[in-house]
Amino acid sequence: MSEQSSFANKILITGAGGYIGSIATSVLLDEGFEIVAVDNFSTGYRQPLEILQKKYGEEKLRFYDIDLTKDDISSIFDKEQGIDAVIHYAAHCLVDESMKNPHKHFYNNICGTLNLISSMNKAGVKNLVFSSTCAVYGQSKYIPIDEDHPKEPLSPYGESKKISEDIITWFSKLKGLNFVILRYFNVCGASDDGLIGDAKKPSPHLVQNTVRGALGIEPFILTYPEVDTEDKSPIRDYINVVDLNLAHKKAVEYLLNGGESEFINLGTGKGNSVLEIINIVKKVTGVEFEVSRGNLREGDPARLVASIEKAKRILDWEPKRTIEDSINSLISWYKNNPQGWKK
Ligand SMILES: NC(=O)c1ccc[n+]([C@@H]2O[C@H](COP(=O)([O-])OP(=O)(O)OC[C@H]3O[C@@H](n4cnc5c(N)ncnc54)[C@H](O)[C@@H]3O)[C@@H](O)[C@H]2O)c1
Repeated sequence: MSEQSSFANKILITGAGGYIGSIATSVLLDEGFEIVAVDNFSTGYRQPLEILQKKYGEEKLRFYDIDLTKDDISSIFDKEQGIDAVIHYAAHCLVDESMKNPHKHFYNNICGTLNLISSMNKAGVKNLVFSSTCAVYGQSKYIPIDEDHPKEPLSPYGESKKISEDIITWFSKLKGLNFVILRYFNVCGASDDGLIGDAKKPSPHLVQNTVRGALGIEPFILTYPEVDTEDKSPIRDYINVVDLNLAHKKAVEYLLNGGESEFINLGTGKGNSVLEIINIVKKVTGVEFEVSRGNLREGDPARLVASIEKAKRILDWEPKRTIEDSINSLISWYKNNPQGWKK
C-alpha cells in the first residue's frame, strides 16, 4: 500500500456536535485535517465547534445545521468541493429510549444513513467510516467477540445500526462505496486536556456517571441487574474516546490508501465489571461516594469484550490510554464544565 500524501485531507463529520463527534473534530483538526461538520444539534451542541473554530480558524473548520433525515446534504457536497471521506457519527443512540420509541431510532438512524450515502454517491464521494456498535451482536456467544460473531441485536437501536450496515454494504456492492464500519464497545473519557467531553446530564455511560458521582455533581445510581460474573455485575470493554477517534483517523487513511471495505471492532480487548470501575474511580478521585440502587435495566448481557486483533492488523492501531487516563480526563472536563455545554 502506498504512503499517504502530505496534503491536508478534507473530511465531512456528521454528528460533530455530539460527545464522540466533537472530540473527533478536535483530534482530526489537531492531526492537520480540514473538517466540514454537520449536525442538527438534537442531542449535540454548537459550543465545542465554536471553540474549535476559534482555535483553528474557519479555513480549517466550518459547521452546518443539517438534519440528515430531511435536509439536502447534496448542497453541502456542492458547496464544499473536494471532500475525501465522510465519518458518520450522527445517530440516536440511547438503548433504553429505543425500546420505548423504536420509530424514532429506526427513522433517524436508517433514513439519515440512507440519505447521506445517496448524497455521497451523487457527489462522487466514495469513502465512508461508519460508527457502529457492539449492540449489533446482542448476547455474547463467546468472548472475546470478533467481527464474525452472530449478529442478533437486542434493541431497536442495535437493529437500526445492523440495518444501516447492510445498506452501506449494498451501496458498496452496487455503487462502489468504500467503507470501514467500526463497531465500538463502551466509550469513555474526554479529550486529553479535558476541554471537550460528554455533555449529557446524566450521561448514559458508566465511567462518566461514576466520576460525576465522585465529584458530587449528581448522585450515582446503579441500574444493572445481577448477572453471571464473579462479582455479579456486568463486564464491559471501556475504550478511551481519543484512542477510539485515532482509530477513525487510521480508518480514513486506510481507505484513502485504497484499502478494501472492512468491519472492525474497537475496544481494548479487556473487560472491567461495573463494581471494578466504581472502585477504580474511588481510588483515582480519592472520594468514597455513596452508591444507591435505582430501577433495574432489563436484558443486560453479562460480558461484552472485544477482540481487537483485526483493528491491530488492518489499521495498525491499538489503544494507548488506560482507564485511569480516561477517569483523569473526565475529572478535568467535569471540574471545568459540571453542567456540560450550553444549548
Ligand atoms: N457512546 C458510545 O459508547 C457508543 C458506543 C457505540 C457506538 N456509538 C455510536 O457513536 C456515535 C456517536 O455517539 P455519541 O455517544 O457521541 O452520541 P451523541 O448523541 O452525543 O452524538 C450524536 C450526534 O448526532 C447528531 N444527530 C442525531 N441525529 C441527527 C440527524 N438526523 N441529523 C444530523 N445530526 C444528527 C446529534 O445532534 C448529536 O450531536 C453514534 O452513531 C453511536 O451510535 C457510541
